[in-house]
Amino acid sequence: MIEISAIRKTFGDLVAVDDLTLNLDAGQIFGFIGPNGAGKSTTMKILACLLRADAGTARVDGMDTRFEGDRIRRIIGYMPDFLGVYHDLTVDEYLHFFAAAYGLPRKKRRATVDGVLELTDLTAKRTAMVDSLSRGMQQRLGVARVLVHDPKVLLLDEPASGLDPRARIEMRELLTELGRMGKTLIVSSHILSELAEMSTSIGIIEKGKLLFAGSIDDAYARIGRGHRILVTIETEGGADLQAAAAAIARDERIAGASATDTGLDVTLAPGHTSHHTVVELLLARELRIASFTPQAPRLEDAFITLTKGELQ
Ligand SMILES: Nc1ncnc2c1ncn2[C@@H]1O[C@H](COP(=O)(O)OP(=O)(O)OP(=O)(O)O)[C@@H](O)[C@H]1O
Ligand SMILES: [Mg+2]
Repeated sequence: MIEISAIRKTFGDLVAVDDLTLNLDAGQIFGFIGPNGAGKSTTMKILACLLRADAGTARVDGMDTRFEGDRIRRIIGYMPDFLGVYHDLTVDEYLHFFAAAYGLPRKKRRATVDGVLELTDLTAKRTAMVDSLSRGMQQRLGVARVLVHDPKVLLLDEPASGLDPRARIEMRELLTELGRMGKTLIVSSHILSELAEMSTSIGIIEKGKLLFAGSIDDAYARIGRGHRILVTIETEGGADLQAAAAAIARDERIAGASATDTGLDVTLAPGHTSHHTVVELLLARELRIASFTPQAPRLEDAFITLTKGELQ
């Protein structure tokens, strides 16, 4: 659905997007992550046919962004990072305006607007003035607006920025629902954990270069990070945690082990996923397990490692 091949975009001396290649199948939710100024918005604007790449090609559903902008605009919905809202309109009028702008026949507009209001949970606000809406509601209206022409591809530039935790969860649910409807989504964000939960794949960009694109599991595999488990040990018997950590760390299936105040912090070697290995090693040393807590891998770790250029 999206085929980007070696695109480059410069602004004067600055290389905003540098030889970026990316392919996405239909139905994917692609999480686009990178520090400020990395080139996320620029890449999305090229796909939205708002900017022209200096070199390379970008295709949406087989159509070239350089030559078929008009046709591409009909099948994409682009939500910019800063949403311009039209202040003296109600929510309903605002959406009808965009439905008309997209050329929806008058007869279909009512049902379409009702549909997107329902999907974005704004039905109760249909008669409210746009500028009276809270930030989170305006963000949802922004999503509603890019849905009126039922696009196949959604380019959403930081749709969750400025939202409170509850509104973030609601936005995530909305985007997941759109993915389930078979739409292809590119979503940029700085909130890594938010993308981890809903994305089918992620891309990490820095200084215009795509450092990684693939599944979240691949990102962890790439940085060679094994599963980490925190164990607390019943120490009444006077267990020597330092000695236990040193012994466990010698096992080839373990990447590292250290003693904590109450137990052990153990990381499995890459490629080893059986937590039972850790249990076996603890029991072999007659340690009594009080609690055993596998740690969820953190996307932040992958991000920091990948953007430091510490690739394997
Ligand atoms: N119209 C422009 N004119 C000049 N420089 C620009 C223009 N648009 C973007 N840039 C520069 O290109 C680089 C990439 O910007 P871009 O907006 O794509 O980054 P981003 O990854 O979206 O960052 P953020 O997370 O802050 O939104 C930045 O250095 C930016 O200053
Ligand atoms: Mg941006």
